[in-house]
Amino acid sequence: MEHQVGPMNTVEQTLILPLFEDVVKPPNRSLTGLSRAGQSQVKAAIASDDFDGKSGKMISLWNDDCKVVLVGMGKSSEQKSNSVRDAGANAFAALNKSHGKAITVRFTSGWKSSMMTTFAEGMMLRDYKFDKYISKDDDDDDDDDTPYTATFQALDRHLDNLTAGCARVSAMAIGVHIARDLGNEPANKLTPMEYATRARAFAKGKGNLSVRVLEWDELVENKMGGLVNVGKGSEHKPCMVIWELNAKAKDGPCPFIVGKGITFDTGGISLKPGGGMDEMKFDMHGSATVFGLMVALHGVGHKGHMMAISCMAENSPSSTAYRPGDVIPTYSGKTVEVLNTDAEGRLVLADGLWKAGEYNPEYIIDLATLTGACVVALGHEASGLWSNDDDLLENLRKAAADSGELAWPMPLLPAFEKQMTGSKIADVKNLGEGYGGANSAAAFLKQFVPKNGEGDDAEQYPWAHLDIAGTAWGTKTNATVAHGATGVHVRTLTRLINGE
Ligand code: BES
Ligand code: MN
Ligand code: ZN
Repeated sequence: MEHQVGPMNTVEQTLILPLFEDVVKPPNRSLTGLSRAGQSQVKAAIASDDFDGKSGKMISLWNDDCKVVLVGMGKSSEQKSNSVRDAGANAFAALNKSHGKAITVRFTSGWKSSMMTTFAEGMMLRDYKFDKYISKDDDDDDDDDTPYTATFQALDRHLDNLTAGCARVSAMAIGVHIARDLGNEPANKLTPMEYATRARAFAKGKGNLSVRVLEWDELVENKMGGLVNVGKGSEHKPCMVIWELNAKAKDGPCPFIVGKGITFDTGGISLKPGGGMDEMKFDMHGSATVFGLMVALHGVGHKGHMMAISCMAENSPSSTAYRPGDVIPTYSGKTVEVLNTDAEGRLVLADGLWKAGEYNPEYIIDLATLTGACVVALGHEASGLWSNDDDLLENLRKAAADSGELAWPMPLLPAFEKQMTGSKIADVKNLGEGYGGANSAAAFLKQFVPKNGEGDDAEQYPWAHLDIAGTAWGTKTNATVAHGATGVHVRTLTRLINGE
């Protein structure tokens, strides 16, 4: 979506008018620029009992020269950012072909500029489809690919804030959409090295962003046994992508994000059942979020130093694949007994987490579509959140809640760690015992969180783990996305790191 911000003067093809509860007549200036017929139609609709401005209410008015969509926002004193964002998303979703592509959105009395920005954010997020593989017919209007242009209008005193706000949320939405593109991309197109190619292409020419790729030979040389073993069964070899933003601003420890990037998860030799296996193309959404985050942070003009790692591999069965029973080395030096090759995400993350320790991180956050058990626990409504640090947990929880991307605290219990370190033949095993599989997976990862020094006084870096298996795709209650990959936590992490 392209957008501009300006005063309330003219109206394009369609006017979206979000109004608060108990509205009885059109607010000042709300009808400027509409035809006489249009004005009386809106007046009549607002005066009628059919539109009361209650949250979730929406009506469309039809007129030859302009279409108007009235959006109910609920009480003006009770506006919450998450429902305002959803209202923007739902208003956008209500548009159809006859509304045209030029949309005016008018914020009248009672609106704060921060809430206007949030409404715009919802509209921008929802303006997404993944249709690149559907053949287009140039003569068919339904195939009109022209982008939407939205003009956000408000009283003069709001225009500066609204301009800055819209620029920020637009940059975030671009990052979210790139994360969705990567998530939705089928695995025959998006291989580990294809991700690396796209990352390099994005960084090219951007002076403050660099991408370094550790390819197969370097993974082997470095003894990154997690990535090597998970990826070696596929002809599409694994790689590690290391991102760095604003290296020149380095000033002590920096935020560090690590993403699971399994471009397809068959389960490997511990093959998954066939039903729904297509969904395992989303198993790289942690790395999709990392990519989208880098795009968003670059786009909002983030000034601070930060880094990220994407752990890319395809988990395939073959004669060269790793097997149940194998004992594999990891980059940390710890050995792992592989009891199930379908518990592969934790193995690639083990190498990524350990690598992050070489860069003096302020904290490390990993994102992974890690366990079906997390979907059992939280459905598609919240990501699981585990952490070894209460402050990091609370900051991340809050940034997620403020973004409408819930992250729900889950227990990091010693009992689960004990399960994972209970192998008889290796340091760690990759499978827990019995129920609570999302917790034992987190406990496994904790074994690979690096420390800030050597010896007995050394402590683990603050670390948090987000299990996004349920939130990365398949949500029906998320108003900001119609279907497919969600781009979850691009906005959470942009807010956490950039501070807005
Ligand atoms: N990628 C899956 C987890 C997953 C399942 C994500 C469903 C999204 C939807 C992960 O690699 C996996 O297979 N986990 C196993 C772990 C088990 C073998 C310990 C699982 O959850 O069954
Ligand atoms: Mn798996
Ligand atoms: Zn997986």
